[in-house]
Amino acid sequence: MTEGTRDWYLRAARELAATSPRQVEWCFGVAHDDRVLALLDALPRPARQPSLLFAVAAYLGVPDAPYAVWADAVLARAEDLARELPRRRVQTNEPGRCVPLLVALAHIPGPIALVELGASAGLCLLPDRYGYRFRTPDGEAGVALGDGSPVLEARLDAVLVPDALPDIRWRRGVDLAPLDARDADDARWLEASLPPDRPERRERLRAALAAARAHPVEVVAGDALAALPAAVADALAALPAAATASATLVVATLGTAVYLPPADRERLLAAIAGAGGRAVTFEARGALPEVTERWAALAAEGRADAAAGFVLALDGVPLASGSPHGDVLEAVRPPAGRPGTEAHRS
Ligand SMILES: C[S@@+](CC[C@H](N)C(=O)[O-])C[C@H]1O[C@@H](n2cnc3c(N)ncnc32)[C@H](O)[C@@H]1O
Repeated sequence: MTEGTRDWYLRAARELAATSPRQVEWCFGVAHDDRVLALLDALPRPARQPSLLFAVAAYLGVPDAPYAVWADAVLARAEDLARELPRRRVQTNEPGRCVPLLVALAHIPGPIALVELGASAGLCLLPDRYGYRFRTPDGEAGVALGDGSPVLEARLDAVLVPDALPDIRWRRGVDLAPLDARDADDARWLEASLPPDRPERRERLRAALAAARAHPVEVVAGDALAALPAAVADALAALPAAATASATLVVATLGTAVYLPPADRERLLAAIAGAGGRAVTFEARGALPEVTERWAALAAEGRADAAAGFVLALDGVPLASGSPHGDVLEAVRPPAGRPGTEAHRS
């Protein structure tokens, strides 16, 4: 049975607990407000999504305010919302996910041609342009990498800490609705997509948009799997012959798989392998069937947290669990009796 809108918002309230107290308040408010539920229930199901409602409301000028004030402003813009919600999708572009990306890329020697499926404005295609400050859970001195902006801070197990930035020779994003960091309205939409009570994420987004304006990345329009062969062909054509021989094609998906149809999620890893790419995925634990299965097996062995949020995997093999935006990463533990370091380096 399909989950009703009220239950969806109650579930979102639990899921957003670590992300945004304000959005949790709005979720509970909507779940108990027949006026807003009626507005949502008149729309196609994907348009009722909590994060999408909050983003579109902010984009339309609904202020960050306690529920009663926020809901009145939402209802005052009911027509605009009913028009805008079905034509938008969740597009939050989180540069913090460059941390797990960097961790996985450290397992791949040599130059890289990077494709991201579901790239939004392409901010995660620039992991080599940002700065990083890593600290380990035992409080060891921090490790700094890169000198760009924003500086992405993360807590991760020592075995995961990368020791160099990747050598990316070519990059391209694919998205159903590409955004452009140079476009003021797209930047406004990306800001509206962030929870209002996370000013540090807004600052990080602004800094990453500035980096993307200085180093533009191409994000082409297309469906993730349908556009993959063309993106690979373009990478091969764009790379000089010498680089083609030595560069590794990496295809990444970050926080995107849940938006793909189930059949596409099932064949994503095979499609990337079939195109000759290494697959880096940083996705919600249940989003990719093969990764989910392997994660469950690791959890059964006591090597991974059964309730992890996001899972970082290379070619479907889990490396770590993480917080959704990549600021905390915990390595898969080695099998009993084996030392932990470099367990998954290839
Ligand atoms: C939540 S955003 C994540 C963006 C980026 N990967 C990040 O982590 O910051 C998901 C993106 O996937 C795109 N998307 C959803 N379904 C897609 C599909 N079938 N093919 C290509 N892009 C898709 C959306 O337009 C959106 O920009």
